[in-house]
Amino acid sequence: MRTLIALLLASGCVDAQWRVMPMPASIRAGEGRMQIGPGFGIQPSRGSWSRHSSAIGRMQDRIGRLIGLSLGADGTGLSVQVKMADSMVQSLEDDESYRLEVTRVGAVLTSPTVLGEIQGLETFFQLIEKTADGWSVPAVTIEDRPRFAWRGLMLDVSRHFMPLDVVKRTLDGMAAVKLNVFHWHLSDDQGFRVESMKFPKLQELGSDGNFYTQDDIRAVIEYARFRGIRVVPEFDMPGHTASWLVGYPELGSVPGPYRIVRTWGISDPTMDPAKPEVYAFLDTFIGEMASLFPDTYFHIGGDEVNGRHWNGNTTDIPAFMKERRFAGQQDLHAYFNQQVQKILTKYGKHMEGWDEILNPALPKDIVIQSWRGAKSLADAARQGYAGILSSGYYLDHTETSAKMYLVDPMGGLVDSLGAADKQRILGGEICMWTEYTSAENVESRMWPRSAAIAERLWSPAGLRDVPDMYRRLTMVDSELDQLGLRHNLNYRTMLERLAGSADIEAVQTLTDVLAPGALRLRHHVNPNYTQSTPLNRLADVARPDSSVARHFSEVVDRYLSNKTDTAARDEIRRWLNLWSGNDAKVQALASWRAVLRDAAPVSATLAKISAQALASMASGTPHKASADLQAARKPIGEVTIAVTAPIGRLIEAAW
Ligand code: ACM
Repeated sequence: MRTLIALLLASGCVDAQWRVMPMPASIRAGEGRMQIGPGFGIQPSRGSWSRHSSAIGRMQDRIGRLIGLSLGADGTGLSVQVKMADSMVQSLEDDESYRLEVTRVGAVLTSPTVLGEIQGLETFFQLIEKTADGWSVPAVTIEDRPRFAWRGLMLDVSRHFMPLDVVKRTLDGMAAVKLNVFHWHLSDDQGFRVESMKFPKLQELGSDGNFYTQDDIRAVIEYARFRGIRVVPEFDMPGHTASWLVGYPELGSVPGPYRIVRTWGISDPTMDPAKPEVYAFLDTFIGEMASLFPDTYFHIGGDEVNGRHWNGNTTDIPAFMKERRFAGQQDLHAYFNQQVQKILTKYGKHMEGWDEILNPALPKDIVIQSWRGAKSLADAARQGYAGILSSGYYLDHTETSAKMYLVDPMGGLVDSLGAADKQRILGGEICMWTEYTSAENVESRMWPRSAAIAERLWSPAGLRDVPDMYRRLTMVDSELDQLGLRHNLNYRTMLERLAGSADIEAVQTLTDVLAPGALRLRHHVNPNYTQSTPLNRLADVARPDSSVARHFSEVVDRYLSNKTDTAARDEIRRWLNLWSGNDAKVQALASWRAVLRDAAPVSATLAKISAQALASMASGTPHKASADLQAARKPIGEVTIAVTAPIGRLIEAAW
């Protein structure tokens, strides 16, 4: 079996050697390599579309920076041929396919559209690598197109505001891995983030001054379009609307006054579906936003309406419901959605909403975003609605890339649907909710994990090789660093703050093997978080999906399956000694740095189980009843120890 795998690898039948993510639909190795030297350049086909020249200019610049040369305008090497004129607004139906052929003497990228060209250029860039003979690209023929047309990332800028530079870096990262929908969660109880000329009290009273001007929005839309990304705005309603009601309390179901909500969870403030003024307001507001955001999809949220303020209303809702013979609040919510949908249609938009909006009263041109489980996606498709999957792609649940990578929009209940229903599954969206995420650490929550989901949404369904995904994810991680993303850079900054100096070694040794707790755990451990709580402690610094833990786990498995592997044994000992010896340094720091206080019990537990594993290895005796190991298997405060499982395997091994 081993020999067979080795042969497959050597013959190129397994995808293991490719430096590309997401993997293309089809990739075939050619003979030799194309060198990338000082004479290299991209030759565009005719066509003066701004998106085309911008993509080529940026790629020429990126390649020049990568290989450390300034590439002249007259260089040759990659010829680009685009067939169709570009359009000003990208749509869901646009063709993203491309063909890339690289031989020893040159490369040709062909695509029907500028959008396909943008995707193909990203692939070409990833293939460039440094070998003993300098920079080069392997000879290859790629024919590529996405599996799903809707490959999104949602960013919540309400709970914690995300400045424009964070938004732009997010778009840079998305483009690198071919994500094509930026879903911008622009309003919620904790902040209204867009300038409205028609209703200026929305941003004046609902944002603490943290909002995007309309010029900012236009700049982001242009920036996204140049990178092949649509921008879908979300204005969550009728719940999640406290920030609107601060300035316009007359839209609410109870008299108010209202305040911006500073804590997390589901709040009571809700628009009043029985008031005609609410729809008059929304007509004007949506009209304004419909011309600001050119995409044909418009997200109205619709999630988590708790109904308390509807129950608390004595002025108009009871009579309204009685008159219309509504059986309950679900009918009231459905009525609201129907009115909003009519307004959206008037402005040429398709409605999108979270899965709570699913109701047969709505027309079939809407899109359901499934967040509470794949069942709602299957239900929607069966009833004739298009849908996208987000359940399983919540970055704030702090799961590993491996786990999220294997979640498939066509999996679970969707798998049993008929072909016509399956056609309605448009793709998926990663969700970045920001209750426990600031502008400083948001990139470390998004990247590189989002690249794994991006591959699920782009590449053939059969690609499920987790180790190979991680091999390529490591490559993307460094590509994103070079693009200027701050997921790794800010980790260092945050570690310096934790340590109180540039000497971060002890603190990093610890945080490198921790994982931040998920949203629920953090709320459970500390229900007192508010919007102004600094996110600067262990759980904010530690990153999901520790690469040290993954590596250590592999070495432990190697060793336990072959105890004569002395290199593995010695490496394991070095790690365990590092973690047990690190504790004294962490305790010394934690004794005077309040911000590090929650590191003390975590570090002590890690040190104890590391010492027990060393003892088990030395004596060859399993240590079955380790209370410390039991403690380490659970969260400690707001973090978990990501190396507990492999350390546990060593402690409990039958030697
Ligand atoms: C959601 O997570 N409330 C859509």
